[in-house]
Amino acid sequence: MSGADIHLPAAGPQNALGEPVRAALPQIPDGIRSLPDYARHAMAHIEASAWAHIESGADQGLTLAHNRTAFDRLQLCPESLCDLTQASTRQTLLAQVLRWPVMLAPVAYHRLAHPEGELATARAAMAMQTGFIVSTLSSYSLEETMVAAQTATQEVGRSAPMWFQLYKQTERSHCLRLVRRAEDAGYQAIVWTVDAGIKRSGFALPPGVVAANLRDFPPQPLHVSDLMRDSILFGSALADNAPCWDDLQWLRQQTRLPLIIKGVLSARSARAMVEMGADALIVSNHGGRVLDGTVSPVDALPAIRSAVGPETPLLLDGGVRYGTDVFKALALGANAVLIGRPQLYSLAVAGMLGTAHMLHVLRTEVELAMAQMGCARLADIQDTLLFKAAHR
Ligand code: FNR
Repeated sequence: MSGADIHLPAAGPQNALGEPVRAALPQIPDGIRSLPDYARHAMAHIEASAWAHIESGADQGLTLAHNRTAFDRLQLCPESLCDLTQASTRQTLLAQVLRWPVMLAPVAYHRLAHPEGELATARAAMAMQTGFIVSTLSSYSLEETMVAAQTATQEVGRSAPMWFQLYKQTERSHCLRLVRRAEDAGYQAIVWTVDAGIKRSGFALPPGVVAANLRDFPPQPLHVSDLMRDSILFGSALADNAPCWDDLQWLRQQTRLPLIIKGVLSARSARAMVEMGADALIVSNHGGRVLDGTVSPVDALPAIRSAVGPETPLLLDGGVRYGTDVFKALALGANAVLIGRPQLYSLAVAGMLGTAHMLHVLRTEVELAMAQMGCARLADIQDTLLFKAAHR
């Protein structure tokens, strides 16, 4: 046999362990008891470059690390002998019912984790009565994702808020088209992300994964002439199109849906956003993916709460992995929190079942934390339950 006759099997996609990517399992694997367990299992089920993209933090990963250590540094000081007979995690936010104070953050391209992508996530979210914020960069369209959520709601008799996350597009008419499509499809709020208009990314999408909502918009290719110009960032279309206050004024006038701004860390900006008509804010550093060295959301939260007052709903994300993290965020003034990466981990490990189970695990931990801290209701969660030297 000559060398030319040897046919090696085509090498399929490999995971970060250098093995073929494992398909999602039909059941929950043994040994998954927490969200970090999902992260450990997920590596084998995701193609290596997609894994690196999902896990990545900007530059040295300082922000990414702060997001966790800020939670770990806070210590809890439980109250005793609480009556839990009427205990509940329910609340109303922007006139919408949240069965528990956790939602799924907007995360691009769920098909990187599982072929059913956002459709599976939407089904899991509805089954577990968990709000879902669908990204502009979803890999199934916002309409398809809403149909999956509505079908699941009919089947299981449970529902939760569905919100649409908007990234500013080069043309305002394109932004408006996305907003109208979200309204027509039945989304209940617009979440405008303002902290990632300028962001480095070298990740190339694998074949078959696309930004389904943007299919009809003209592509914005990078030309050699762009690289040859004197300007690097300043003076480029990217900088010129970065979201700004004028856009907020414009967007506020375009929709009657609640407008929530995501990606706020400064108390001053937060107050100005509320004065300009934002209905709620998401305190976030984009999961440590944009600017390295930022304050963690949980450290920024108290000043933002004092700046906007008690009435403005505040959500928070970045590093939330345990029920006690949810508790700590609420104690410092959040009304609810979002989780990002764990959605993709659980989807990769066991599809819709995995994400539903991941939410079940977290919800159990939230109830445990409340019970053990002596809080029967979300309103009982106060910063006096965080240990401070002055309370000794
Ligand atoms: C994101 N995030 C994000 N945010 C957003 O507003 N629109 C988007 O499309 C995306 N896409 C996205 C992709 C990936 C792979 C990640 C990890 C994150 C940020 C996300 O909404 C959220 O702020 C963080 O993920 C929260 O941090 P944790 O929970 O991942 O630590």
